[in-house]
Amino acid sequence: SKDLLSISDLESHEIRLLLADATALKAEPRQNTLAGKTLALVFEKPSLRTRVSFELAIKQLGGEAIYLSPAEVGLGKRESVADVARVLSRFVDALAVRTFSQGTLEELAQWARVPVINALSDTEHPCQALADLLTIFEHKGEFPGLKLAYVGDGNNVAVSLALAAASVGLNCTVATPKGYEMPAAAVRQARALAATNRCVFNAVNDPAEAVKGADAVYTDVWISMGQEAENEIRLKAFAGYQVDEALVSQAKPDALIMHPLPAHYGQEVAEGLLDRPQSVVFDQAENRLHVQKALLADMLGGLLMSWAA
Ligand code: CP
Repeated sequence: SKDLLSISDLESHEIRLLLADATALKAEPRQNTLAGKTLALVFEKPSLRTRVSFELAIKQLGGEAIYLSPAEVGLGKRESVADVARVLSRFVDALAVRTFSQGTLEELAQWARVPVINALSDTEHPCQALADLLTIFEHKGEFPGLKLAYVGDGNNVAVSLALAAASVGLNCTVATPKGYEMPAAAVRQARALAATNRCVFNAVNDPAEAVKGADAVYTDVWISMGQEAENEIRLKAFAGYQVDEALVSQAKPDALIMHPLPAHYGQEVAEGLLDRPQSVVFDQAENRLHVQKALLADMLGGLLMSWAA
């Protein structure tokens, strides 16, 4: 596919190659492989990590970025999604898009002549999952035999992470409150991928069951942008799902503590926990840059120095 709309657009071997390229680019950050290429960042929601890492990614490979804020684009409001896609395709070489809905992303991809990259939608966050895998690999040196525990909302981050883990043979258990599970189709897809790649994917409701013996404990926000009206209901539903000292103590003693950020201390993660030595949250943030460079080089046909080696 020309696009990355879901992490499942990448085959298992493609994810492994991207991680290897990202590692090479981390060691050799500046290359001129995408000179003359332009990436448009089309964002319907605010961002710190995604915006900065995509802008720097293309710049460090010799290209340039144009950021289009929600007000500037008015996707489907000022102008139809199809027309935005067709206009931008005449100017730029790829689009990194953050939308409220996967449907908008798919429509953009359908009309764009250039690759469209999901920079977070309501259903997936594939670039985050790639950075998370790289972070786990850097700290643990492998995937098979490890157990990743995700505790919290069965949201876009959980879905991409579960599918990415299952693709590389990393055992994964997702624990969510009842009513906040990952979509059933995503659970089926993760189970099928896990079976193919000789690992296990589990979806449970008990956080302790997920975390028991885990090599990494991952959590994410309980209330995303657009869900503010559900604030009270969600806080009640997620009580008991906070990643705190007591929960982490049931994982392996050297378990990584992971979060894509931004974090809400006192909600999904206890105050101070991300300051502990096992926390790798800032590695996760930094690795967004490296995996996205590998992705852009791959999607835009740039040759990396490591490919010639
Ligand atoms: N993790 C993540 O996507 O961060 P931003 O929302 O700041 O881009």
